[in-house]
Amino acid sequence: MEIKIQSLDQIHEAARQFIEAMGENTVFALYGKMGAGKTTFIKAVCEELGVKDVITSPTFAIVNEYRSDETGELIYHFDFYRIKKLSEVYDMGYEDYFYSGALCFIEWPELIEELLPGDAVKVTIEEKEDGSRTITL
Ligand SMILES: Nc1ncnc2c1ncn2[C@@H]1O[C@H](COP(=O)(O)OP(=O)(O)OP(=O)(O)O)[C@@H](O)[C@H]1O
Ligand SMILES: [Mg+2]
Repeated sequence: MEIKIQSLDQIHEAARQFIEAMGENTVFALYGKMGAGKTTFIKAVCEELGVKDVITSPTFAIVNEYRSDETGELIYHFDFYRIKKLSEVYDMGYEDYFYSGALCFIEWPELIEELLPGDAVKVTIEEKEDGSRTITL
């Protein structure tokens, strides 16, 4: 399916549509160029899921952990942009997250493609010339 985001003021509406489409899936791999809007969209989805913490890209760590104030559930947000070797991903214990049953949102999944669970949902974010975004899953 496709979700269109005409401008930032529609992002929470788009996030709600995305959440409806998530179903029972837990691992979401977000593909898209630098600046496409991966972090921004994950932030909106987490906010709609009841996360109150400030959400930023995991700059210093590979993974950030959030908790939904509504459900008490943990959500993991990964950014693999800076990894240099897969051994860094093994060392952080990626399996404990991906197979935990908790929601996982992954930026730059192409850098760890072979470690993605088979049932990870591939999501792409594309910026159009007019600045709107299209989310495909
Ligand atoms: N749906 C949107 N509509 C308009 N602007 C957006 C949208 N999503 C993101 N932006 C803007 O685009 C810029 C980059 O967004 P963001 O940091 O989310 O991209 P990213 O895909 O996570 O990039 P990176 O690959 O560097 O992590 C930000 O300034 C943000 O405000
Ligand atoms: Mg980002």
